[in-house]
Amino acid sequence: MTKYAYLLSGSAGHSLSPAMHNAAFGALGLDAHYEALGVTEADLPERVARLREDDVYGANVTIPHKLAVIPLLDALTPEAQRVGAVNTILNRGGELTGHNTDVGGFLRALKDASGYDPESRDVVMLGAGGSARAVGFALLRAGATLGIVNRTTSKAEALAGALGRYGNVAAVRPDGVISAVQRASLLVNTTSAGHDTHGAGQLPLPHGILPREMVVDIIYRPVRTPLLAAAEREGLKTQNGLPMLVYQGAEALELWTGQDAPTEVMFGALREALE
Ligand code: ATR
Repeated sequence: MTKYAYLLSGSAGHSLSPAMHNAAFGALGLDAHYEALGVTEADLPERVARLREDDVYGANVTIPHKLAVIPLLDALTPEAQRVGAVNTILNRGGELTGHNTDVGGFLRALKDASGYDPESRDVVMLGAGGSARAVGFALLRAGATLGIVNRTTSKAEALAGALGRYGNVAAVRPDGVISAVQRASLLVNTTSAGHDTHGAGQLPLPHGILPREMVVDIIYRPVRTPLLAAAEREGLKTQNGLPMLVYQGAEALELWTGQDAPTEVMFGALREALE
């Protein structure tokens, strides 16, 4: 029986996940297929019901369904509950559990791809949206001290309030942003600013202000954002969104199949798909 995994997304067309997961299934010799589905809010219950069938491993979930999917599931892992978002669904005998592999994926990317351990480090995160919730939670769980900077300061304050019980976190006031970043060891951009269609100048941070050791941008298109290019020129460690994409996918694939994910194959498939 061919097994299926799906991506439930608002816009299925652009995703690199099918290339990555189908390459991994092939390398593991599994009769399995990963397919991206463009799903509307109205379709979501029907698409989730399909995941309960025997021939389905489960699914990934992305924008805009990471929250909306929660009431349609039978259980959440403690992590998905704490983050308040689901990016992976596992089907076990018709029962659906919501996981959040963005948390583990982000931390494994930092450690495995860059040898960086956030424990006891000062970290500044740009952004306070859906991605920032998972990344912020991950950094606190790893023992970082976190400052949140956002275009809309009230949202940074709300996120810092929501994450406060998991560690040392505060919103950074606009007049404190430059000194907070310059004092920090690591800067992580979770905003969509600096993307193809946006300019780097729209980051909630003046151009050229950098931390002491490392910059992560969770965007992978373009592969090298203006922020990462500036950090590279100053000799800092940098990381784009590809390692996080691979490791969140690896954790999902391991849940679905019970096998170790072939991460080198997954990196290779993504690089090819990006060319
Ligand atoms: P995601 O789920 O990808 O994180 P989101 O929840 O819409 O998406 O969050 C987008 C984040 O990018 C927010 O922090 C947003 O800032 P605001 O809260 O002020 O809206 C930030 N963002 C998006 N476009 C931006 C821009 N042009 N300049 C600065 N910040 C931007």
